[in-house]
Amino acid sequence: MEDPKSVAPISRSKSTYVVDFEPPEKERIRLNTQHGVFVENTGHLLPPAIPDHGNLNAVADIATGTGIWPTQLSELLPSTVILHGFDITDRLFPDPSTIRKNVSFSLLNVLEPISETLYEKYDVVHIRGLSFVLKTEEWDVVVKNVAKIIKPGGYLVWNETNPGSTQAIPPTKVASQGAALLGYMCKLRGGDPFCCNSIPNHLKNNGFVIIPPPVLNTSTRPIPEYAPVTTPAADTRFYIHVVGGEFKPETVETWSRNYVSGLCSIVSYMAQNDVRNEWFTPETAGEFVEEFLKETGEGGSKIFFDLITVIGRKKI
Ligand SMILES: C[S@@+](CC[C@H](N)C(=O)[O-])C[C@H]1O[C@@H](n2cnc3c(N)ncnc32)[C@H](O)[C@@H]1O
Repeated sequence: MEDPKSVAPISRSKSTYVVDFEPPEKERIRLNTQHGVFVENTGHLLPPAIPDHGNLNAVADIATGTGIWPTQLSELLPSTVILHGFDITDRLFPDPSTIRKNVSFSLLNVLEPISETLYEKYDVVHIRGLSFVLKTEEWDVVVKNVAKIIKPGGYLVWNETNPGSTQAIPPTKVASQGAALLGYMCKLRGGDPFCCNSIPNHLKNNGFVIIPPPVLNTSTRPIPEYAPVTTPAADTRFYIHVVGGEFKPETVETWSRNYVSGLCSIVSYMAQNDVRNEWFTPETAGEFVEEFLKETGEGGSKIFFDLITVIGRKKI
């Protein structure tokens, strides 16, 4: 495979999120479907490690996308709990007339210093889905910025997926090549395909105590083998680790179909931007997608990646 470092880096737009060139409605469906499968497989919106959900004052969701996480959480919490969704763009924010009055959305770039008016405001900050967005050196910036808006004793709940853990099960030629695209693109854009493994260290280094997994959790399983781009965390300390291929059976079809559609968007992005790779050219991208859809269609390979949750409690 060509060394991604030899390819010119993709220029950085306002958002660093590759699939945001898709029409908002398509992206909304993809993110909301992914949210449903994530919640089904991890078992909750807000983990039970966070005590006393009904007595929270304020909860924030960073890089909220469609805002589905705070919107659904507001339906489970008393109306006295304030929920704020933040994102670098408002293009997927929900229509305010469709959500509860205690939920609101604002623009915020989490890579920039956050306004002091938000310092120590939140009992819980939730983040999900930045593994394909952040460059390796940006994870620490995000943790440092976000730590400031959490109350002492408050929680950071980080849900993620390792782009490099994407796999086709059973592996077939083009399904596996399609699955490898996410890790390849992540690396090409300056990210770490196994970035999730270092989240607990970023938290520990920035004033958080890691909440250990519940006793009966699956996270005692070893993490899959991989070739890390950066030094992996010695101790992953995931609160939850749902290994790709061990999703709830009823979620597999939906997850894989949704994910295949996202990967097809990435192929089209790569073709349009002439991103060099060993699998297709702008001219053969159409055939690649056709074969990828065939191999991952009914009765074929399914595409997975690991889902993880890390929880840190800010020291008092
Ligand atoms: C994969 S989506 C995840 C959306 C949502 N958290 C979810 O799980 O459904 C990534 C989100 O990160 C947002 N984003 C990208 N760069 C950002 C930044 N610097 N600050 C805040 N949000 C950002 C994108 O606009 C997009 O909504």
